[in-house]
Amino acid sequence: MKFFIDTANLDQISEAQSLGVLDGVTTNPSLMAKEDITGKQNIIDHYKKICNIVDGDVSAEVISTDFEGMIKEGEILAALHPQIVVKLPMIKDGIKACKYFSDKGIRTNVTLVFSAGQAILAAKAGATYVSPFLGRLDDISTDGLHLISEIRHIYNNYGFETKILAASIRHTMHVIDCAKIGADVMTGPLSSITGLLNHPLTDIGLAKFLEDYEKGN
Ligand code: G3P
Repeated sequence: MKFFIDTANLDQISEAQSLGVLDGVTTNPSLMAKEDITGKQNIIDHYKKICNIVDGDVSAEVISTDFEGMIKEGEILAALHPQIVVKLPMIKDGIKACKYFSDKGIRTNVTLVFSAGQAILAAKAGATYVSPFLGRLDDISTDGLHLISEIRHIYNNYGFETKILAASIRHTMHVIDCAKIGADVMTGPLSSITGLLNHPLTDIGLAKFLEDYEKGN
């Protein structure tokens, strides 16, 4: 399973990259606003900075909600850097734009997916990635992981090549459960990646190894 980090924070992206396990970055308008990145040019410059830090795919989201607007924005974003993947909302015009970009060989990520039906449409429109938001489903007492399993099952049935990008990951158990289900990618905060490092027995064991080494030297 690939690891993407879900942030626009350059320090966190650099930290994840330095671990050597980062495969890409996802952003959205809320994550950009959180870093105080506002205005078209600043946002474009920020995407370029992110692409210069990481080796993998960087999702850049359109703001338009109409087909023509999405095409115009998506083409500008895709031309910024070969690592850019155009992120489109799961609405009617988003699906039309997904098909348009897919036919042109421009990679896409269909976002805000909350049902298996939406994931089928995204795959049929040729999406490179589909982003089901599992944490937000959990937030409303609906099993987000079940949606990931449903999409995995359906995509396997028909050999859809669209990658399942489990999004809205909140913690390490989401990461582990998505890996068990067979999600292709997970995107989460830095803590969901670095949290995988932790085990008290590792800390106790290492302390003991070092203590014993000191005794013998
Ligand atoms: O990038 C989209 C998604 O991962 C959002 O996550 O935590 O805002 O539900 P969250």
